[in-house]
Parts: sequence; C-alpha cells; structure tokens
Amino acid sequence: MRGEGPARGLFVSLEGVEGAGKTTQARMLVDHLERVGIRSVLLREPGGTPMAEAVRAVLLDSRFSICPEAETLLFLAARAQNTAERIRPALESGITVVCDRYSDSTVAYQGYGRGADVEIIRGLLCYATGGLWPDVTILLDLDPSQGLARQTVRNRMEDEPLQFHRRVREGYLAEAEAAPERMRVLDAAASPEILHGTIVGIVMGELARSGQGRRAAGAGGP
Ligand SMILES: Nc1ncnc2c1ncn2[C@@H]1O[C@H](COP(=O)(O)OP(=O)(O)OP(=O)(O)O)[C@@H](O)[C@H]1O
Ligand SMILES: [Mg+2]
Repeated sequence: MRGEGPARGLFVSLEGVEGAGKTTQARMLVDHLERVGIRSVLLREPGGTPMAEAVRAVLLDSRFSICPEAETLLFLAARAQNTAERIRPALESGITVVCDRYSDSTVAYQGYGRGADVEIIRGLLCYATGGLWPDVTILLDLDPSQGLARQTVRNRMEDEPLQFHRRVREGYLAEAEAAPERMRVLDAAASPEILHGTIVGIVMGELARSGQGRRAAGAGGP
C-alpha cells in the first residue's frame, strides 16, 4: 500500500515473441539495478513460486494436449499465485520487480494468438491479479521467424506454427499502440548491449520519476 513505509517498488515486465531476448534483458537489467544499489527481484512467468513453477512444467510440456480454455486458466492460476505471494509483497516493501512476461502475454498468446475473446481475457486477468498491471512494459519486438531461429530447444508454445506467432506479435503491437505510456516498443533485432542501454534508460527514468533512482544514486535533489 502507498502512504506508509517505503515507497512502492517499480513493476517492470518484459514481453515479446519466443526468442526475442526477454530473459537475456531481464537478467541484465536486474544485474544493473543491483549494481547501482536498487533493490530488485527477477521473476518469470509462468513461475515464481513452487506451485506456479509446477504449473509452468505442465504448460510447457509438449506431451500434453491442453485445450485453449484450460491453457488460459492454468496461466492465470500461476499468475494469481505469483502476484499474491511474490509480486505484491515485493512492491509493497519497496523492491523493484522485473518480471519476464506478465499479463500482456496472456492477451497476446491466448487472445490474439489462440483467438479467445480479448475482453473476456481482460476480465479474467483482473480477477487473477486484482487489477495489477506493470508500471512499465518493455516490448521486445521481433519477427517471430528470427526469434524462433535463435532457439535451440523447443517447448509446447514454440511448436505452434509461424502464423500463430505472427498473430501474437501483431497482438502485442496493437496493445502497445493502445497503451503507449506503459508499453515501450524496442526493435529486438538490435544487439543485447544496445537494448540493455535503452532499457536501463527507460527504467532509471521511471525510478527517478518515483524518487527511488535519485535516492539509490545518492544524488539528493528535491
Ligand atoms: N539482441 C539479441 N540478438 C541476438 N541474439 C540474442 C539477443 N538477445 C538474446 N539473444 C539470444 O537469443 C536466444 C534467446 O534469447 P532469450 O532466451 O533471452 O529470449 P526469450 O525472449 O527469453 O525467449 P523465450 O520466449 O523462449 O523465453 C539466446 O540464445 C540469446 O543468447
Ligand atoms: Mg525466456
């Protein structure tokens, strides 16, 4: 809650198609934040808690046939647990949360990709997360064929045809257009170092706006 105790932490998510570089950038970002003295935690979705990691194993296992409705609800069960057990408590104690995927993935994959009604998905997301959305979302935009070509091991989602991943990409871009304040679109074909520099600039800017970056850097100021 705002008001008492430390300032709320910043909630950052990384999104994009398979192989766009989310995990690479999430790790580089958290390493940077720790180096400059900003308390942060790296979480991934689905995952983050023992229950959610168990659900992740089911969701990514190519041996299972999972109908679209079950898939959506499993992702949301994992997210509800991660949000309640890890994300909200961290944010409330002033820790910056960097999440490798969050709710935009459900809108893009299950909504645009699978063709589920996006408004129903939004309602379910609200139920699962209590209406929590990231403060800033980095969308690593990449042609899915390039992303998939970067991968060495395939999981159940990555086994989907290219057309599916193209719909996911278009879905992400449509969402970003509708929420330009929160979602920042970066060209993920750039080098990891260039992307990292841009992401650090965005996140440090957001932290400075909320007062945390200045405190951590010891720069004082108003
Ligand atoms: N900017 C980049 N340019 C080229 N290769 C990259 C870049 N960023 C990451 N890679 C490489 O591409 C592969 C996929 O990167 P990464 O695992 O970070 O992507 P991801 O978005 O997390 O993928 P997934 O959706 O499967 O979790 C890795 O081998 C990584 O080293
Ligand atoms: Mg990853």
